[in-house]
Amino acid sequence: MRKKTATVWLMAGVTILSLSACNPQGKQDSSTHEQQDNQQEQQSSQDANKNKQTESQDQNDQSSESNEGQTVDKADQHQSNDNGMVTVAHPNDLQVLVNKSHKLPDGFVPKNLQYADVRFPYDEKVQKRKVRKVTSDALKQLFQAADNKGIQLFAQSGYRSYERQETVFASNVDRYGEKKASQVSAHPGTSEHQSGLAMDITSRAVDFKLIQAFGDTEAGRWVAKHAHEFGFIVRYPKGKQDITGYEYEPWHLRYVGKDAATKIYKKDWALEEYKRNE
Ligand code: DAL
Ligand code: ZN
Repeated sequence: MRKKTATVWLMAGVTILSLSACNPQGKQDSSTHEQQDNQQEQQSSQDANKNKQTESQDQNDQSSESNEGQTVDKADQHQSNDNGMVTVAHPNDLQVLVNKSHKLPDGFVPKNLQYADVRFPYDEKVQKRKVRKVTSDALKQLFQAADNKGIQLFAQSGYRSYERQETVFASNVDRYGEKKASQVSAHPGTSEHQSGLAMDITSRAVDFKLIQAFGDTEAGRWVAKHAHEFGFIVRYPKGKQDITGYEYEPWHLRYVGKDAATKIYKKDWALEEYKRNE
């Protein structure tokens, strides 16, 4: 027990240090993302190395590769530091809460990252095409179901490393200022894109951009109504900014598994509300 307590304090100290080094992150202008993501292509091989390190950390995480589709731990909210920032204990949990007060552990790279096996509006094999396998499998089913209804979805941006998020956020601060940047994009370490469980999607009707008008398109409406059947939620719903901390993002899908997604959809909750009430 004493050893465990010491570990918790040590991790809290590390969290404080890493937060003081954080830059703010930036928003979803798709052209900006594309350019920056292409520059970051080389990051993928560095991430692969980090992934190996994380594998051993994950031995303590009950969510192993063999049971990736299961949720194993609800209690991922501890290790709070003095700033009230929590470092999530089980970052590979499918229902992990990552937001402005819940960060991923330093150096975290999700398990089983792979190129998402769905349609993109570009050909480059860049980092942002990746997600966790469980996310890719579910996306494939979602896209197929949309195809069956004559709706073409396009994936735009999935996994982003901590370093990539630093670049994106800094770019948005330059562009919009810190306050606006923080309403539309996450500080490094607090983005769901780093979890491998998020994918931004879009359609031809909005020129493959990540803009709120996507929510009013046929594709956007269909996704809002059916994403939960495939385990996804629209993570930043309209009218929930005071809870999620972010403006409405009809394009940002987060995988949580079918049961959780269906409950969240039916209750009209944000993930924060689900975690409080589950
Ligand atoms: N746009 C979301 C909040 C992110 O940057 O992760
Ligand atoms: Zn997103």
